Amino acid sequence: MNILLIGAGSVGQGFLKVLALRSQSLQESHGFVPRIVGVVTRSKGTLFDEAGLPLDALRTALQNGHLDLTLNSSTVQRNPAIQTILQHSAVDIVVEASPTNVQTGQPALDYIYTALNHGKHVVLANKGPLVVDGIGLMRCAESVGKALDYEATVMAGTPAIRLATKGLPGAQVTGFRGILNGTTNFILTKMSEGGSFDEALAEAQRLGYAETDPSGDVDGWDAAAKVIILSAAIFGVQLTFEQLSVSGIGELTSSQIQQAKMERKRWKLIAEGTREGGRVHPVALPVDDPLANVNGTLNAVTYTTDINGDVTLVGAGAGGQETGFALFSNLLEIYEQFF
Ligand code: HSE
Repeated sequence: MNILLIGAGSVGQGFLKVLALRSQSLQESHGFVPRIVGVVTRSKGTLFDEAGLPLDALRTALQNGHLDLTLNSSTVQRNPAIQTILQHSAVDIVVEASPTNVQTGQPALDYIYTALNHGKHVVLANKGPLVVDGIGLMRCAESVGKALDYEATVMAGTPAIRLATKGLPGAQVTGFRGILNGTTNFILTKMSEGGSFDEALAEAQRLGYAETDPSGDVDGWDAAAKVIILSAAIFGVQLTFEQLSVSGIGELTSSQIQQAKMERKRWKLIAEGTREGGRVHPVALPVDDPLANVNGTLNAVTYTTDINGDVTLVGAGAGGQETGFALFSNLLEIYEQFF
């Protein structure tokens, strides 16, 4: 299973770390080790070798900030055209983990269409392409008979998408409501402990939870992107940002947060959706609401079903390793289904 990785920031490097951590046990349990044949980055260069790249040296080079590793291979290509390597016959799977652009989905959207149309499976952590054209991508993957998996885009390695789409066979999910942004939940938790907004945001950035442009987190657009992705996955409906009502946590003051505490409430940024639409808005939840006690970077989602009541899932919502694990788990599913 030959992998082309696009994007080697916190998530891409988290994915490589999980591969390194699991390669031994994977060999034993599944009889194979995935092989990285290429890495595409925006600022550290691009490296491609159909014979495979050495994982440990690759990780060290990425940590040092440049893909300048010495390789004794006659097939290595340095900084090749991305569209060309996406079509290369040695590539089986494209893992897309580059920074998100939720307005255009680009350049990832074009990359994914090229990959699918040239017979590659695609696994993504990048939300942008799904927000802009998720249903189109799903249809394309179906028509070419390849996998398009995106567990990493909502709640990192916590299987929110798998639970809703595969975990409740025979039941219908009629709605969802949850905390789908780790950065804002981390900020609200820190503020309720007496910390300041700016300090908490800086820490979320340092820990790699926040988006490249953190206003996407703070203003609710990252959570809205996840509402769009869940709506496409569960209801088969392609929503747009314009169809959602979105407000973030930027207007919440420390005194409002402390006041809520005295009233035995907790402010949370709630994201919700049904077949009819969705919204993102801060809500002061009573402490006995299960979502009120989901703190820090934890995320949670409650699915309402027609014949099995509510089902709630709580777990990591962000983080390089956790999101890298989600990519890895999709990879294993694809291996089991197609290889
Ligand atoms: N910035 C996102 C968050 C990362 O804080 O939840 C995970 O999608």
